[in-house]
Amino acid sequence: MKKWLAASVLILAPLIAIAAEAPPEWAYPAAPPGYQPPPDNGQPKKVPGSTKTYTEKDIGNGNGPPDWFPDEHPAMPDIVAHGKAPNVNACALCHLTMGYGHPESANIAGLPAAYFEEQLHEFRDGNRASMLPGRSANMIRFAKNMTDDEIKQAAAYFASIKPVAWTKVVEAATVPKSFVGEGNMRFVAEGGAKEPIGQRIIELPQDEERAKLRDPHSPFVAYVPPGSIKAGETLATTGGNGKTIQCAVCHGPDYKGLGNVPPLAGRSAIYLYRQLNDLQHGTRHGNSVALMQPVVAKLTSDDMIALAAFMASRTP
Ligand code: HEC
Ligand code: HEC
Repeated sequence: MKKWLAASVLILAPLIAIAAEAPPEWAYPAAPPGYQPPPDNGQPKKVPGSTKTYTEKDIGNGNGPPDWFPDEHPAMPDIVAHGKAPNVNACALCHLTMGYGHPESANIAGLPAAYFEEQLHEFRDGNRASMLPGRSANMIRFAKNMTDDEIKQAAAYFASIKPVAWTKVVEAATVPKSFVGEGNMRFVAEGGAKEPIGQRIIELPQDEERAKLRDPHSPFVAYVPPGSIKAGETLATTGGNGKTIQCAVCHGPDYKGLGNVPPLAGRSAIYLYRQLNDLQHGTRHGNSVALMQPVVAKLTSDDMIALAAFMASRTP
């Protein structure tokens, strides 16, 4: 009996540890297994302001996604526009041609090139993973299959693009009911029902169809609990009586980045939350992370929501 107990404790312990470490579902949205998007009507697609036309198949082409506005960005390096089949998808597929990204990936426009390169090395070397492994699996695979030169080209390209206001932060006690669908993106559910926001960030496309078409003119709204922005500002500017460290020291006076330290202003709120959480839980533990460890060590989930809300609400 005793032996059996000991054995079952040994078997159960890792399971319990995993259960306790599961990240909050709202922050790491994942479409339910087997999710089928609504069938396509086969019609050619257009977005406002672009003369181009693409089919549904072109939109999802992992090695040649749409480039709606070729005149609005510098020439894309091949790795950005096409990737390298079969193991590297075009960066533009998820981060869009301009790097603004979707809430389930990351806004990489205007990141310092050295920081950008370092992150790809961290993914490649096993130092950066998401608490939800599926979320970082693609980046890890791409990084392992890119040459240093390709990494440099992608970094220089996205560093050259000026970030724009892409995420509108709105404090709200209730939010539209939503579900996670194609590409792990969250969409408003049919019927117009509302639900309490609770302690969550709910990031939705401002125009669902255009977001699905990977339109780089189609931004997002991040709903955050009432009071979050002010609470985040207090923590960010005072350190909250030793709870954390003033962010401007390293991220710059307007949080637009400083040297190789990445910008935070105007980026996706839910992305920022995930990174704070991954840094705190040690799944992201690269070379420069030591500087962030004392920043995140004592933060609660609500503190991270507040900091993410405040940073996302700043002008990029
Ligand atoms: C299939 C979707 C997808 C594609 C394609 C993709 N990425 Fe990503 N990228 C992501 C996701 C998701 C994350 C966030 C990972 C995480 O949370 O750990 C990310 C994060 C990043 C980051 C980290 C940003 C930061 O602020 O630290 C960089 C840099 C990056 N990607 C570069 C690239 C490059 C370069 C390419 C093209 C070779 C590329 N990505 C292609 C989904 C993608
Ligand atoms: C002592 C310096 C320092 C301070 C203070 C600091 N940071 Fe950072 N932060 C960094 C560095 C360096 C990185 C990049 C880590 C890496 O290379 O992986 C970073 C990365 C981040 C990231 C991930 C960004 C991305 O693109 O993935 C977030 C989010 C972040 N910091 C938020 C904050 C917030 C919020 C505060 C204030 C409460 C703060 N930081 C204070 C140095 C600092």
